[in-house]
Amino acid sequence: MTHQATQTDIETIDRDHQRFHTLIDQIQAGVDGGLGAAGIARCQQRLLVFLDGHIAFENRLMREIGYPIAFTHIEEHAAFRDRVSTVLAEAGKTVSGANIAKLLKKIHDHHTKYFDSVLCYYLTDKYALEAVENGLGI
Ligand SMILES: [Fe+2]
Ligand SMILES: [Fe+2]
Repeated sequence: MTHQATQTDIETIDRDHQRFHTLIDQIQAGVDGGLGAAGIARCQQRLLVFLDGHIAFENRLMREIGYPIAFTHIEEHAAFRDRVSTVLAEAGKTVSGANIAKLLKKIHDHHTKYFDSVLCYYLTDKYALEAVENGLGI
């Protein structure tokens, strides 16, 4: 199986990340298709609400499993969210939708590659260990 650096192999998380890319594509289409300020604002809002939900999910998950480097990842989420909203604020101004989308995906994929992947490796190991402890085998 080919493995992309931005793919974590935890289905729920990968699905959310894919959804994030789809929402970015909608912003690009909106900006480049002349959707208008109100429509673009709705797309921006949708992306931020989704991102906040995803971040809250990951933060809760890390606390619940006692993830040893949760603090670093949670702190990075705040910086990541700030970067996304800074770029989003440019959507609908002079920058093209394609450039906005490229930048948002870059910011997102960087976070996924260096933070979410590590979390998911930890999760996979943890579940494998629990399965062995519970006599389920792996
Ligand atoms: Fe994350
Ligand atoms: Fe994530």
